[in-house]
Amino acid sequence: IDKFYKNNVLCISDKEKQRLVDNMMQQLILTKEKTEKVAETFMNELNSALAEEASSLQMENTYIPELPNGTEEGRFLALDLGGTNFRAILLHFHKGNVIHEQVKRYVIADELRIGSGEKLFDYLAECLVDFVAENNLEDVPLPLGFTFSFPMRQHSLNSSSLVCWTKTFNCPDVVNKDIVKLLEHSLAKYGHNHIEVLVIMNDTTGTLIEGARMDSRTRIGIVLGTGSNACYVERADRVHHWEQERHNEEQVIIDMEWGALGDNGSLDFIKTEFDRDLDLRSLLATSFTFEKYMSGNYLGELVRIVLEKLWMNKLFLKKAPPEFFPPERTFTSDLISRIEQDTVDGKQNRIKQILKDLGYQDDHYDADDLAIIQFASSLISYRAAKLVAICTAALLNHMDENDITIAIDGSLYKFHPRMKSWLEDIIEERAPGKTFRLILAMDGSGKGAGLATAIASRLKALKVK
Ligand code: GLC
Repeated sequence: IDKFYKNNVLCISDKEKQRLVDNMMQQLILTKEKTEKVAETFMNELNSALAEEASSLQMENTYIPELPNGTEEGRFLALDLGGTNFRAILLHFHKGNVIHEQVKRYVIADELRIGSGEKLFDYLAECLVDFVAENNLEDVPLPLGFTFSFPMRQHSLNSSSLVCWTKTFNCPDVVNKDIVKLLEHSLAKYGHNHIEVLVIMNDTTGTLIEGARMDSRTRIGIVLGTGSNACYVERADRVHHWEQERHNEEQVIIDMEWGALGDNGSLDFIKTEFDRDLDLRSLLATSFTFEKYMSGNYLGELVRIVLEKLWMNKLFLKKAPPEFFPPERTFTSDLISRIEQDTVDGKQNRIKQILKDLGYQDDHYDADDLAIIQFASSLISYRAAKLVAICTAALLNHMDENDITIAIDGSLYKFHPRMKSWLEDIIEERAPGKTFRLILAMDGSGKGAGLATAIASRLKALKVK
């Protein structure tokens, strides 16, 4: 059993309560046997997908065959949709580096996230038109890179159709439609025909590309944010799916869509009653099994569901009035990072503040309740880290290179105080022959889209020649 499980023991005054809570939480532990089985499942699914056999991993060809090489020049527009906000970005590169950046965030109202596709894309176009006007770019022909962070069937660098929605979006009539065409169609309503979409990709690809700008050994991009996913540079001869003519590519970025791992039941052996409950209550039930174990959109809710179960069994917050118990989806993942910070610091100030914000008074809870909150948060956070690390290590072992930099972005990675060190420790243990490092590719989804657009311009110029 891991060092973490040995050290992270619940120690409360009521021993009978401790036994009952421990019993209920056992199922969240990833034993050695389960750990090996997750790694094996991941590799089986990866190889099946590459061979175009049935798999829960999509392993999509992005058609991006090159990484930045330091020659990227010029101005590019980038759009970023997939997390909390929608962002429009203007990036100016000189010799591969960003020399000027203009960003504007736009809020996407809930009714747009789960309404009609046309309304959503008209709104995106409206934001872009606003951004272009604000920056006096109305008549300037600008190449654009669109970071659209959802599973897509990619047909070429700038054409892809939506496979399904994930995270907090669900506009059913967009499924199977070409995303670039939808955006262009909406832009045309505003008379904007001068914006050319050169690339459509997702945030992990942006993270990998921005990581490669920072450190040329970068070959893997991971996002641990609202959702979670990874991409990596694969040997082109291992990739069977090419919808466009090949041009002697030696390598290509593969978007794994690992959030869907286990959608075929292959990960059911780690599914707990809490995971099943979370899935049933989620916006997109029965899909994105793996993502529901470990991404920011779900982690807080998972802790809440565990605590709710303990509460209903009278093992938690027994003295408190029931009306303060947080309702569904209000216990967000940023709270988990704060609770974990308390655990790291050996304090409980932040937990007490969280309880106070929920309406609880000091005499509504006791030391055992605080310890249970910390215990549940740690156990669920560690399981998330371990799942990500198992797959990352397996990926490293699959790759030919021995020295690989892994670029990561996303709120759970940035703000969870133990995530980075857990990932490092577990990956090191599971990929013993490999040298690796994790780097934060801050805003990879935005900057990477700009860089990818610069690469796409370079490839286009080569083809014209
Ligand atoms: C979801 C999306 C994926 C994205 C990830 C992180 O899993 O399907 O494309 O990369 O979230 O935002």
